[in-house]
Amino acid sequence: MASTVSKQKTPAKRNNHNPPAAKPFLKWAGGKSQLIEKFQELYPAQLKQKKLKHFFEPFLGSGAVFFDIAQNYSIDSAYLYDINEELILTYRVIQQDVSGLLEFLYRYQKNYLKLDTKKRQQFFYDQRTNYNLQRFNIDYNTYSDRWFPRAAQLIFLNRTCYNGLYRVNSKGEFNAPAGDYVNPTICDEQNLLAVHRVLQLAEIKKADFRQVVSDLKAKSFVYFDPPYRPLSKTANFTAYSHQDFADTEQRQLAKLFKQLDTLGARVMLSNSDPKNHDPSDNFFDRLYRGYTITRVPAKRMINSNPKKRGAINEIVVTNYAIG
Ligand SMILES: C[S@@+](CC[C@H](N)C(=O)[O-])C[C@H]1O[C@@H](n2cnc3c(N)ncnc32)[C@H](O)[C@@H]1O
Repeated sequence: MASTVSKQKTPAKRNNHNPPAAKPFLKWAGGKSQLIEKFQELYPAQLKQKKLKHFFEPFLGSGAVFFDIAQNYSIDSAYLYDINEELILTYRVIQQDVSGLLEFLYRYQKNYLKLDTKKRQQFFYDQRTNYNLQRFNIDYNTYSDRWFPRAAQLIFLNRTCYNGLYRVNSKGEFNAPAGDYVNPTICDEQNLLAVHRVLQLAEIKKADFRQVVSDLKAKSFVYFDPPYRPLSKTANFTAYSHQDFADTEQRQLAKLFKQLDTLGARVMLSNSDPKNHDPSDNFFDRLYRGYTITRVPAKRMINSNPKKRGAINEIVVTNYAIG
């Protein structure tokens, strides 16, 4: 689909004539949608003053911060990375050929919604098996027509699995069980079209977070949202991909944060606050000593047990003063 690049020059003012704003099209562990209003207070003043022109989000996930910044601030380009190749494939399909994707999604919607509960489960597990088998037949490096059904399958599974979350096991197999939503929206056409438009200013690639150094430009804002440091040794549920993100990686990320600071970028990083569970745990306070650390209340929606989803702090580190 041919797409026009519409770069916004002024913060989007919503009125009845504006098309609907794009929002995350996947539910993702650690998604930041519910924190956006608080984050807006923590963005650098230069972003609000339209002095920052490039945005980097190297742990993209569902991209809540990207969608906010691309639509409400005046950036010229965005660089979006994630190590998860399925996720990147899906973003690129929406960016390049949303109409091809919509066709597949409408087919899913029609075929799934007409089934009774038992048959829906069977349909879900058949798709899940097929999704896990087909990954060996996909060339993730070369865009092709085979990417549309793959992207549609990921969105279908995300919309219809239990809790609506992407989760893989150590072999990289998608393993979330079937959900029981009565009427899930499998094809949200309006939003996907809006996402398609917003993605025109983005370069999207499967990459490790360290890639940001090579691509960095003057006047950049970088937002890091790495996998959460597990709250406890047993809380091992953040499997977005089969690669681990341990304390070693958190330390490497802190090094990169400092490097970007020296290079003149504005940098913001969030993580769950280890002090929620162990008030003496100073891991991030030590790692980011000398930078501005703000704690904001959040609700963790990731726990599959609703009773365990309580108020909890998110820690936000910035290399600039707030306010
Ligand atoms: C906390 S999630 C980001 C959530 C996102 N901010 C949102 O609103 O949905 C972390 C993401 O980092 C990705 N990731 C894990 N290790 C990575 C690495 N080494 N480089 C880049 N991305 C990585 C995961 O695939 C996951 O999508």
